Amino acid sequence: MALSKKTIEICKGTAPLLVEYGEAIATRMYENLFTNYPQTRALFSEAPEEQNKKLAGVIIAYSANIDKLHVLSSTVDSMAKRHVKINVKPEHYPMVGESLLQAIKDVLGPVASDDIIEAWKEAYFFLGNILISRENDLYTMA
Ligand code: HEM
Repeated sequence: MALSKKTIEICKGTAPLLVEYGEAIATRMYENLFTNYPQTRALFSEAPEEQNKKLAGVIIAYSANIDKLHVLSSTVDSMAKRHVKINVKPEHYPMVGESLLQAIKDVLGPVASDDIIEAWKEAYFFLGNILISRENDLYTMA
């Protein structure tokens, strides 16, 4: 299933804003995630701190490129490998998604309209489902 043109346009249009506030959004995302889903903390403690701080920004950057999936295909593969190494599972995706979207709302306030949040939600889960499927293949092969 493909993303709507409207979603792609909103994501591409708002990506620079999200990147600009990336650090604040990232900090907030971890607060939300670890408060609501403390079981995810262990996954992150196994990764170098530098990279953990990048995650929110990285998700935003990749989601903004959902209309160029062919460009992303080799990175999707390396993301999936990385995730499988630290045992990221399908059930973690909604936890990160919810925490990220809430963080965007918390940081941007009223600028983050319902349309903007809905578009980012779609983009996140679109990419998330691609990763989940690739990770399932890798878990099955292992
Ligand atoms: C659409 C959703 C997601 C995208 C696009 C994404 C993307 C990435 C990328 C690109 C990296 C590598 C960063 C680097 O090499 O510097 C990474 C690492 C990581 N991801 Fe994800 N991720 C997603 C969802 C998740 C979820 C649901 C979890 C589980 C809570 C998770 C946990 C991690 C952790 C702990 C790392 C750091 C490990 C490392 O860099 O070795 N990610 N992710």
